[in-house]
Amino acid sequence: MQRPGPFSTLYGRVLAPLPGRAGGAASGGGGSSWALPGSHVQPPGRALPGARGANGRDSDGVCPATSTMSKTEEAKRLAGRAAVEDHVRNNQVLGIGSGSTIVHAVQRIAERVKQESLSLICIPTSFQARQLILQYGLTLSDLDRHPEIDLAIDGADEVDADLNLIKGGGGCLTQEKIVAGYASRFIVVADFRKDSKNLGEQWHKGIPIEVIPMAYVPVSRAVTRKFGGAVELRMAVNKAGPVVTDNGNFILDWKFDQVHKWSEVNTAIKMIPGVVDTGLFINMAERVYFGMQDGSVSVREKPFC
Ligand code: 5RP
Repeated sequence: MQRPGPFSTLYGRVLAPLPGRAGGAASGGGGSSWALPGSHVQPPGRALPGARGANGRDSDGVCPATSTMSKTEEAKRLAGRAAVEDHVRNNQVLGIGSGSTIVHAVQRIAERVKQESLSLICIPTSFQARQLILQYGLTLSDLDRHPEIDLAIDGADEVDADLNLIKGGGGCLTQEKIVAGYASRFIVVADFRKDSKNLGEQWHKGIPIEVIPMAYVPVSRAVTRKFGGAVELRMAVNKAGPVVTDNGNFILDWKFDQVHKWSEVNTAIKMIPGVVDTGLFINMAERVYFGMQDGSVSVREKPFC
């Protein structure tokens, strides 16, 4: 008989820590955890600790002390929940993004599924998103079975005045772009720190570029030769060597040193042999929900062209 150890349950299943930046979406990544504090991967359909009701209370009806939740985390929560309130409807196929802000949106989706008996299909953008969907007991599918997505919701690392985005801080940019690209509507949820006039004002870690491993050196050289700046191979934190994405590739972070015409730069970088995709999401988002420091939610729409 299997002896229950620290990572086994009565079900005999091995439970891993909730996938997050440090070993979820892209192996060995560092940074803030994408998990709700103290949560673990649960067998699908099981209730999660700390799930809050529509009124913001915990399931036992106790309001969490505001001091236990940072302003940033609360802003993420407000943005995630507001987007779900406004856009999620019965019978939709949903694209589920990656990161820490999307966790709050998924939590609200799961509450609404239960409260309103919604029938929803969820397409993940990463290993982390897949686990999140299962963890909250939502219906998991893929692009083979559901190639048309009604609504994709995802986080971002930075949003400019025209709703162009930098994404890929968690290394999931390629699958995120695929899912957003096949969605009729793409909505972004973010906290106030992501709001910029021009890309690079707030986000200083550069533009992520997913590359085929054998090409990372020539791609790095091609990017700096064409556009200047500096390129770094993203290194893992809890693993020796580079971060490896969900697709088995490397991530380059391009620290640009001037404002560019991002649409042209995106196309040019994508043409470099060995590049899989970039974290530039140009003209894709239709609306961004920013959770603000004062507890409000600010909505930015795509400007008319
Ligand atoms: C992952 C992403 C995330 O959406 C982005 O990093 C935002 O994450 P967070 O909500 O944790 O700030 O692009 O590749």
